[in-house]
Amino acid sequence: MKTLRIAMIGAGNIANTHLKAYQNIPEAKIAALCDIDPVRLEMTRQKFDIPTEHCYTDVDTMLAAEKELDAADVCVWNVNHAACTIAALRAGLHVICEKPMAYNAAEAEEMQREAKKAGKLLMIGFVLRFSRENAVVRDLIEGGALGEIYYSKATYLRRHGNPGGWFGNKALSGGGPVIDLGVHVIDQTRYLMGSPKPVSVYAMVSHRLGNRPEIKNSVGWRPVGSGDKDICNVEDFGTALIRYDNGAVTSLETSYDFNGESVSRKELYGTKGGISLAGKNPKLYTDVGGYLADTEISLDGIGGKGDSFDDMFTRELSHFVDCALNGTTCIATPEDGIWVMKILDAIYESGRLGHEVEIK
Ligand SMILES: NC(=O)c1ccc[n+]([C@@H]2O[C@H](COP(=O)([O-])OP(=O)(O)OC[C@H]3O[C@@H](n4cnc5c(N)ncnc54)[C@H](O)[C@@H]3O)[C@@H](O)[C@H]2O)c1
Repeated sequence: MKTLRIAMIGAGNIANTHLKAYQNIPEAKIAALCDIDPVRLEMTRQKFDIPTEHCYTDVDTMLAAEKELDAADVCVWNVNHAACTIAALRAGLHVICEKPMAYNAAEAEEMQREAKKAGKLLMIGFVLRFSRENAVVRDLIEGGALGEIYYSKATYLRRHGNPGGWFGNKALSGGGPVIDLGVHVIDQTRYLMGSPKPVSVYAMVSHRLGNRPEIKNSVGWRPVGSGDKDICNVEDFGTALIRYDNGAVTSLETSYDFNGESVSRKELYGTKGGISLAGKNPKLYTDVGGYLADTEISLDGIGGKGDSFDDMFTRELSHFVDCALNGTTCIATPEDGIWVMKILDAIYESGRLGHEVEIK
């Protein structure tokens, strides 16, 4: 059996999810681990039983010392995605980089150039592409069930859910819910719409609520009172109309803090049918024999596994390992990552300027 020897760059929250997922992939071997924070490095090292001699607090030191690596998995703060990815590509490794692809579109384009120069795979961690509901809805769309899709809604709203730490610090994250949560639903709706080219964005980005450390009760996103010492200079809400070259439009709504209901939902509307994805069975709105009909589509028996967070990561990372080892065509490419970064950049610019911004 061929094995992919992987260096994990970052030993934080999502790196732990990735490491757990790799345990379900026999072809994946974690060969090295790196984090600038020695405490997190040691905690993760112990949890996944990675030998101390393969653990590092500096990416370049790791890449120079470890001669047997095939791939790297980049799970660090957004501001460091480009530097870590480029260092790994220059060391001759295949790379998967977490979402968002980079801090901005210019960095994302540089990453793509380096991947081409190195002749290595660069995959972007658009994990929602690997959900079962996504697979079923894509299949239905390819079969023509929706007709021409002319509108979609990309909604990812948290009532009170700024994760705090670096997520609230624009210098490290690049922004708040737009770049952190919006990225997921923008990518998924665009993917399901057949990856049209974005041409313009009209957005509103709001900094009115902050992270509200005065709120006494928690709604599941963080412990009560945490975050009060954090910097919070990112937006708390963003909305945008994203226009594509085929005339279709996506309406985005996303928040960390918002005086409304927490919702994660994607909706696609076409000439023959509409569909709603909300983390459970997709619902199809169409007409049958002259009658309006709403159908819930069961996901039972699809893809063999469930749709938990861990299941999606196992599917995503299995795809990465398969592409790297066997040359399988990757379904989450740098081109997609760049278009999404261009949309995100344009949302922030349109929010700042107060008018529509073109995307080229
Ligand atoms: N796909 C998803 O659903 C999902 C969910 C959460 C986070 N993420 C993404 O994963 C990334 C990490 O998020 P997280 O929640 O794990 O954050 P985290 O703070 O828990 O972990 C990030 C780790 O990266 C380390 N780090 C930063 N710069 C580094 C560098 N140059 N070299 C080595 N280590 C470095 C930090 O010390 C930290 O331990 C972010 O880009 C985030 O957007 C994706």
